Amino acid sequence: MFVTMAVDHLLTSFILLLICNTGFSAEISVFVKTGDSVQLDIQTQKLPEFDLLSWTNDKLENIVKYIHESKKVKLHSSYKDRVDFNDETFSLTLKNMQKTDTGLYTARTRGESENNIVTYRVSVIDAVDAPVLTVNSHWSSSDSCTVNFTCRAHDLMINSNYQNNRCSPQEVTSQINTLILDCSKEAIICNYSNPVSWQKDLINIRQLCGGFSAEISVFVKTGDSVQLDIQTQELSEFDDLSWRNDKSENIVKYIHESKKVRLHSSYKDRVDFNNKTFSLTLKNMQKTDTGLYTAITHGESENNIAIYRVSVIGES
Ligand SMILES: *[C@@H]1O[C@H](CO)[C@@H](O)[C@H](O)[C@H]1NC(C)=O
Ligand SMILES: *[C@@H]1O[C@H](CO)[C@@H](O)[C@H](O)[C@H]1NC(C)=O
Ligand SMILES: *[C@@H]1O[C@H](CO)[C@@H](O)[C@H](O)[C@H]1NC(C)=O
Repeated sequence: MFVTMAVDHLLTSFILLLICNTGFSAEISVFVKTGDSVQLDIQTQKLPEFDLLSWTNDKLENIVKYIHESKKVKLHSSYKDRVDFNDETFSLTLKNMQKTDTGLYTARTRGESENNIVTYRVSVIDAVDAPVLTVNSHWSSSDSCTVNFTCRAHDLMINSNYQNNRCSPQEVTSQINTLILDCSKEAIICNYSNPVSWQKDLINIRQLCGGFSAEISVFVKTGDSVQLDIQTQELSEFDDLSWRNDKSENIVKYIHESKKVRLHSSYKDRVDFNNKTFSLTLKNMQKTDTGLYTAITHGESENNIAIYRVSVIGES
């Protein structure tokens, strides 16, 4: 039998055509996202003369029965509230699909003879979870940046390097799941997909390599202390490290070679600086301390290694 492919209206379902060699019916594979609807069409313009048309599941339940002469439609009790049957096109729409609805759905006619019109193999699957990109190590200077990273999603993994604004694209698959790696000047992008969904994770290259750290918001109660940590495990070589407020005052400056710590006069009695972790603790915070706090290293290049937007709240 000849089958034409009608594009499914439901964006979320994805149709693959597989033609079985039974000779009189095609089996069409359809993936549906859990909770979504799927419309099953009869895939032919020319139905043979019939008295009765039915859609059945693979438990041989008649989901719907249509009597030609009386134009009566009978729905199976267990499908009553979740199917729509179109008595002109004979399409069946199954709604709110669950994994237990996975199976074969067949349209048949009965008249002088019995005919299988079409069979669908419907697979109900969940949307994918987001993949996770992690940086194993990175090294940057003023004109180049190298990042070693891993992208993971369930049983799939890609390990690669970003260099000279690119990486080699990669694709790995496992059954119906695909993990794709792609890079641009702006980002490393990892895309995890199955036939009904996709999700991505990305690493912003400018933030990682260009000295722009992501800003972190912190709320502190008036009178309390706040500890600000640097946001990197991998400090590149530096000569000095400083924490600055948004008046460009160096609250603390740490000289790498001499291991000297210099505190700004106006902060002397109310900060602690940890010369191992480079964390800064600001004590007895007041509303006037609200603002931006930035950790910067100087060496071959200047790098922001932490940006905090600190808001001091509550009554004083
Ligand atoms: C970086 O990734 C590659 C895989 O592309 C791996 O073989 C290598 O060990 C990694 N290097 C570092 C320094 O992490
Ligand atoms: C991710 O992959 C899916 C499936 O291949 C594709 O439709 C989608 O556009 C991709 N998304 C991005 C951001 O590349
Ligand atoms: C950190 O400071 C303490 C006390 O100020 C000092 O004894 C110690 O040597 C310093 N450690 C480093 C790694 O500079």
